Amino acid sequence: MPERARASSAHISPSAHYTGYVWYRHRLAEPAFATAFGRCVHGLLAPIAWGARVGFGLDIEQILLQRHLQIDARLSAAIERGGVRQVVEIACGLSPRGRRFAARYPELRYLEADLPAMAARKRLLLHAQGWLDRRHRVRAVDILAERGGNSLAALFAELNHEEPVLVITEGLVNYFELPLIESFWTRLAGELARFPQASYLTELYPDLREHPRYRQLRWGVELIGRLTRGSYPLHYRNAEEIIAGFRRCGFRRVEVFDPSLDSAALGLPPARSAGLVRVVQAGV
Ligand SMILES: C[S@@+](CC[C@H](N)C(=O)[O-])C[C@H]1O[C@@H](n2cnc3c(N)ncnc32)[C@H](O)[C@@H]1O
Repeated sequence: MPERARASSAHISPSAHYTGYVWYRHRLAEPAFATAFGRCVHGLLAPIAWGARVGFGLDIEQILLQRHLQIDARLSAAIERGGVRQVVEIACGLSPRGRRFAARYPELRYLEADLPAMAARKRLLLHAQGWLDRRHRVRAVDILAERGGNSLAALFAELNHEEPVLVITEGLVNYFELPLIESFWTRLAGELARFPQASYLTELYPDLREHPRYRQLRWGVELIGRLTRGSYPLHYRNAEEIIAGFRRCGFRRVEVFDPSLDSAALGLPPARSAGLVRVVQAGV
């Protein structure tokens, strides 16, 4: 990744308006989460999304919903069956998950975090609706900052280290080259090791070269890279490589889920082709 992108990844933030609008469109979010910019970008990209669906069998919104709902399902299980009471969602963008889960589980503490400008915007949004309180907060973080007030260490200093924790990132990791994101995962695993029980949930787009839609997928990631003025590298080639990669970063228990195999349980129509996105749950 070029030095410029290493110093700042703010160019990624506008993409949160697009996904925020998708969550709203699919009734996962209240209207407050839908921005005019998100609506506009969604409208501009609609012909491309239609072409990809009809021409290539690639349903972009279906893939987004697969990842979002699979993460929701794993999070619900961790709360209901794993005793998790504190959640940190990094790169929260305009996702409504914090709002939905804080409303559904009155015991849960939910800390949302993003780059300073996006965090300020999210805080304002939630505050205006009266949804922020001591249990549900928003804070600035930069996963590239190795020290200082926006570093991961500063974010984790606010948590209760006597209790289990679950950390989420969604729509973040494939914006970075593998060495950079692995250095974040290594720092994250180090922070998580200081809790009695800790796990990390993320989605990941692997480099599935045998996938029948691989060429179209490459076209799609090229497009995402251009739209966000960066790149969108695919990481690892299969579940075995994902597990080995996360273990190298310090995670011990690693599970890889293919949401396309769980469509019915996630309340989605059957997937039209083999899955392109994976959800990873990794514990230290
Ligand atoms: C595609 S959006 C995903 C937002 C949300 N998680 C969702 O799925 O709707 C990517 C998010 O990553 C955030 N982001 C980019 N670089 C970051 C960094 N270095 N540290 C923390 N967040 C970052 C952006 O501000 C943006 O909100």
